[in-house]
Amino acid sequence: MDYKELVFAFNRIGIALSSETKLENLFNLIVDEIIEFADCDACSLYIKDEKKTELIFQATKTVSLARKGKESVFRSFSVPLEMRSIAGYTAITGDTVNIEDCYKIPEDKPYSFNKSYDERTGYRTVSMLSVPMKDNECNTLGVIQLINQMDSAGNIVPFSKEFEAIILSLASQAAVALSNARLLEANKNLYKALVEAFSEAIEARSPHTAGHSKRVAYISRMIAEHINHKDDGNFENIFFSDEKLEELKYAALLHDVGKVAVPENVLEKRNKLEEDDIAIIKNRFEVIKFSTDFHIHDEQLKKDFIERIDDDLKFILDKNLPGPCSDEDKAKIVEIGNKKFVGFQGEEHNYLEEEEIYMLTSFVKGNFSPEEWEKMKRHVNNTLDILETVPFTDELKDIPRIAGAHHEMLDGSGYPFNVRGEEIMLQSRILAVADVFEALTASDRPYKKAIPVDKARQILGFMAKDGELDKEIVDMFINENLYQIYLEARDNGNINV
Ligand SMILES: [Fe+2]
Ligand SMILES: [Fe+2]
Repeated sequence: MDYKELVFAFNRIGIALSSETKLENLFNLIVDEIIEFADCDACSLYIKDEKKTELIFQATKTVSLARKGKESVFRSFSVPLEMRSIAGYTAITGDTVNIEDCYKIPEDKPYSFNKSYDERTGYRTVSMLSVPMKDNECNTLGVIQLINQMDSAGNIVPFSKEFEAIILSLASQAAVALSNARLLEANKNLYKALVEAFSEAIEARSPHTAGHSKRVAYISRMIAEHINHKDDGNFENIFFSDEKLEELKYAALLHDVGKVAVPENVLEKRNKLEEDDIAIIKNRFEVIKFSTDFHIHDEQLKKDFIERIDDDLKFILDKNLPGPCSDEDKAKIVEIGNKKFVGFQGEEHNYLEEEEIYMLTSFVKGNFSPEEWEKMKRHVNNTLDILETVPFTDELKDIPRIAGAHHEMLDGSGYPFNVRGEEIMLQSRILAVADVFEALTASDRPYKKAIPVDKARQILGFMAKDGELDKEIVDMFINENLYQIYLEARDNGNINV
């Protein structure tokens, strides 16, 4: 290789190394590039573990065995970090070891050659160059071992002294790439931990929604990964890269962060009237009974009256529970509420206050009054406001848009912007299906109990048929049993995102 070729090869490897940020890919890339660059038959890469007590075997390739189809499946393993092995010696001392023939290592060397690989595979290791991977601060992060360098005629030759220096420099370049990739990975992990902690902290405000976002993220990711394997229908040409899957995961983890600004009494609401209000009503009905007892003297009439008051209270308590309120129920609540009784000072009162009647009859969704429902709906605007202030990287830039549309419906009936159809990103449509299914089957919502799975499937089907949810996603989720995989994972405590 002349000087020009060398510079060219160095540049190419440098660019390749600096653009690969995934550790596993990076290790394989280093091995591949070095084999090509060095004209050797095999190359292996070891990395020191965090405690620096072991060497982890990360990647290897043997060209001649691969050609014969004999190369075994790669399995990572660890060996103790000791001077006895050649890799261990290089890693501990930081010295390059250049061996002409591994079977003729002088006895006085602290290291020796381990023949087990050769014996197992029938391979013959002859020349070996073991170089440390030193980063900018001269820390040895790992070791690269080159085996059996070939001359132009295909004969195994020792690694030359000049070559040693070049490979050492390449190994350093690989070490810097490794440091960068590790840093990036550490950043990503930190980022993920922060996002998870953030979403968990918000959900912790209401124990009833704990774990919701994580479960929605799990379902969303499962759907997206399933789409990646589709080779027919509308999803045929859709593929979510690792970055896009990551973006979807974060959008799902963060989709309800806006709930941080929803008042706790709304978020935590169990029934149409809160316990304090119900205590006041119960107390009032005791007064009504007392007043009846005082004012009516006919025993039978008194008994009938008191029974009716008990029935009225029972009806009110029953209608206070979450759920729809029919016109008939509304009329009866108004009728009871407008009944009069005489108080201790002889003044007249209604059985129920206006506000109480309103809260019991104005149900719009779950157990929310229209005003409360508006506050609840605002959580999506809040989510958008919060996420739009985050300087997401380019790969994650759609997180606000994806998360901000999780309550939009294809027919435009959703909120907050009533967008419709294709205007809603596929990721948001996935999120919407995941969100609805999780909420339906979760047993921990204050305003409703978990509904049976069959019923949840049916509701998803209706919502798809009505043009609210994406039919193709719903069909896939139900017909291809994704929902069952999710429920099993949830019930076995295996929701990892
Ligand atoms: Fe939401
Ligand atoms: Fe949600």
